[in-house]
Amino acid sequence: MSSAELSVFIRAVGVRTPERKLTNAELSKMVDTSDEWIQTRSGIRERRIAGPGENPSDLGAHAAAQALERAGLTPADVDLLIVATMTPDVPFPSTACLLQAKLGLRRDIPCFDVSAACSGFVYALQVARDMMRSGAYRRALVVGAEKLSSVVDWSDRTTCVLFGDGAGAAVLETTAERGVGLLGNLLGADGNNAELLHCAAGGSAAPATADSLREGRHYLRMNGKEVFRHAVRVMAESCERVLAQCGVTSAEVAWFIPHQANIRILEAVASQLNVGMERFPSNLSRYGNTSAASIPLALEEAWKDGKIKHGDLILIVAFGAGLTWGATLLRWHEPSR
Ligand code: UT7
Repeated sequence: MSSAELSVFIRAVGVRTPERKLTNAELSKMVDTSDEWIQTRSGIRERRIAGPGENPSDLGAHAAAQALERAGLTPADVDLLIVATMTPDVPFPSTACLLQAKLGLRRDIPCFDVSAACSGFVYALQVARDMMRSGAYRRALVVGAEKLSSVVDWSDRTTCVLFGDGAGAAVLETTAERGVGLLGNLLGADGNNAELLHCAAGGSAAPATADSLREGRHYLRMNGKEVFRHAVRVMAESCERVLAQCGVTSAEVAWFIPHQANIRILEAVASQLNVGMERFPSNLSRYGNTSAASIPLALEEAWKDGKIKHGDLILIVAFGAGLTWGATLLRWHEPSR
């Protein structure tokens, strides 16, 4: 069989979220906000905050270990590791290399990060799929891991209420079976709108200085209204384009797993696709926006709740800083079934 015929499917998923919960009530003591405003405008009730020793590589390693255990695999079985993060442990080396060491993965495998902010997990899935279809890698770990609490300005009420920390991981595997796993995909980006959601300092163009720290330029800044507008349009369009590419209608999709940024974005996308919210599982209320971790967290929860069944069509879609976006249609596959 030629390697071009290989399919790539998600064999297992795993998660890790920090224990510490930060509620809207606590936030309303830190900035001028209220539980009512946050819930009405975003759907968020609480988020998780990582402590010392809970960096993206730690959270990611725990999530990956759980996914491997559920797949009945060991670290030695992994042929490729991709970590999606916008909050790497350190500027270099990659979070993937740190995670590789923590998990005890083999040394003869590629380990690297993908930087596509909230779209990172979708980007990483597609990069992994394309590397695996060549036949060179049988099993991959794709991890979304974030510690957004480290880049949030805790005095800026327009952003600090939205974000949280966590990690999710997927074990990908190749199979000769056709029509299963990752079917269609689309990725896009628009760097002309980079400033709508960005961190101005801390990189090589503007290294952290006493001035940049004082001015808070190392923190995440967002034009929420504009990002919201782009997110709804691009996520709905991406879903429609992937469905058309695969010759599938939205009625045939069992579950839509969107990036969890704001419940009103999910509602607007669902409405544009003419799909009821019962097919848009959401955990926003408990985790907030965890960027690259949000899709694997939501996917794992839907799987654990018994929602996702063998053969289900699932459409995942993301949007984030860059701007970046991506969508993947997959058919859930459980080889033992
Ligand atoms: O992960 C991908 C990227 N992120 C997103 O997709 C997020 C996209 N954006 C959003 O989710 C929403 O735009 C927000 C939740 C950030 C804001 O919701 P909004 O309905 O667009 O509110 P707004 O920015 O228009 O603000 C409305 C009012 C303003 O006051 P005035 O000017 O009307 O007096 C804000 O100053 O609400 C005020 N405000 C707040 N009030 C209480 C902004 N943040 C807060 C707050 N608490 N935390």
